[in-house]
Amino acid sequence: MVGAMKIVRSPKAMQRLAKEWRGAGVRVGFVPTMGFLHAGHVSLMEVARRRVGPKGIVVVSIYVNPTQFAPTEDLSKYPRDFARDRQLCTEAGVDVIFAPLDSDMYAGRGEGRYSTYVVEESLGRPMEGASRPTHFRGVTTVVAKLFNVVLPDVAVFGAKDWQQAAVIRRMVNDLNFPLQMVVAPTRREKDGLAMSSRNTYLNESERKQATVLIRSIRAVKARVASAGRGGLAAEVLKSEVAAMVAQEPAARLDYVEFFDGETLEAVAEVRRGAHMALAVFMGRTRLIDNGRV
Ligand code: PAF
Repeated sequence: MVGAMKIVRSPKAMQRLAKEWRGAGVRVGFVPTMGFLHAGHVSLMEVARRRVGPKGIVVVSIYVNPTQFAPTEDLSKYPRDFARDRQLCTEAGVDVIFAPLDSDMYAGRGEGRYSTYVVEESLGRPMEGASRPTHFRGVTTVVAKLFNVVLPDVAVFGAKDWQQAAVIRRMVNDLNFPLQMVVAPTRREKDGLAMSSRNTYLNESERKQATVLIRSIRAVKARVASAGRGGLAAEVLKSEVAAMVAQEPAARLDYVEFFDGETLEAVAEVRRGAHMALAVFMGRTRLIDNGRV
């Protein structure tokens, strides 16, 4: 769409616009984010634009969703810079930023007036779900709400959050959301670190050590390639990754798992094409990454 980028705060106003577009047969591409945007987000916006074409609409939501943070995780410290986000969205040719307030998204939460949640009960259990038990309930709830407000034809998510994408895809199928889900590749810094808003928490030394996530993935990939058809025991590879991570003074391994990239089912023997995901605390910052090995 040609014209100045709009910023919409109210879910009702956003839904009104979305209904108008739908009525006019305009395709809508949607990129949900928590803001503090970086080149990884911009690449998702580009995918959305390609999917809907020049006459379509690209909507980016910027909303730090409180329900996906546990009380122990510092929601108030999540990085925010709306002016910069707005600039990046303008440059990326976004048509609408939807940036709602907590009071509109979850009116009366904790006071008994907001009480509806969406829970995916299987794919979200291991890995992130085991480490952050309330996280995916918050993600599926807010994404379902955002879908109902933005009414997208296409929604684009990043592959860095591989399990999140799988959980949302399952929700889309299970609850019959009439949209196409696209998972776009992870954007990386020059040294391989996956782009993430959380990288800004890292001090200089942690930032250097943080490449241990991608180094581990690459090391496992090489090991699996040289092992041939028989593959390697997941337990052996897990110990090797733990040893690599332990070499970095600021790093603490939260988990490393090997699984089928589609079903997320754990594999005992890791062969080429299996998927690997890991979460590592670098100091107080928790980073995740994943890849096909
Ligand atoms: O991946 C994220 O940034 C968030 O989990 C999402 C999908 C925007 C929901 O808050």
